[in-house]
Amino acid sequence: MSNNDIPALPAGSSSPGAPDLLRIKQLEEQTSALRNSVICAFNQLLDLKDLNTGVHSTRLAEWGMRVGRELGLEETELQNLEVAALLHDIGKVGIPDSILRKPEHLDPEEYALMKKHSEYGWAVLRMLPGFERAALDILHHHESFDGKGYPAGLQGAEIPVVSRIVCVIDAFDAMVSSRPYRKGLPYQEAVRRLNEASGSQFDPVVVKSFLSFAESEMSPVFAAAGTSVSSAL
Ligand SMILES: [Fe+2]
Repeated sequence: MSNNDIPALPAGSSSPGAPDLLRIKQLEEQTSALRNSVICAFNQLLDLKDLNTGVHSTRLAEWGMRVGRELGLEETELQNLEVAALLHDIGKVGIPDSILRKPEHLDPEEYALMKKHSEYGWAVLRMLPGFERAALDILHHHESFDGKGYPAGLQGAEIPVVSRIVCVIDAFDAMVSSRPYRKGLPYQEAVRRLNEASGSQFDPVVVKSFLSFAESEMSPVFAAAGTSVSSAL
């Protein structure tokens, strides 16, 4: 049979037909549902280890997505950003409670072990199809813009942009949140510290983007601490 014997395809038949499109849509929905289930399951795991306040991680995801959109991240990067913001500390399930809950400063040996949590998180999430990129973003969420962070000592643009975003919003949230052993910082003091470390620890572009809307987002944070942004200013 020569090529001349092959009947010509009718116009438009190279694109998927309606049943194919329906099947593709179903598969996309299944993939999305599975992805959400995995995120929920890991969040439950963080809850079991008492490492997660639902509000905290949801807040980080919302702030992160806002910064990500402003910086022009593509849709797939935004999806990875959401996962990384929600699950950046998943590796802490592998850190002993005696270290996680120690109110005093950690000694060098304990701190070295604590720093392993970003690698632990990567090691777990990279096993899941579709989460490989978010796993890498989690691996680098404690890199410092000047190269003095961990685990790889990456610098500037070498650090994945998602990791740079998570780093800033996580640090800020940690500063303003109260813990059983310490009270959260007032808003203006947290802003001062963020600006002070902008360009050294933090990506200045991310800091600028976050601070452009941060104050308007603070009410629930300070309400949870029994105070208000204005009273804390
Ligand atoms: Fe962390």
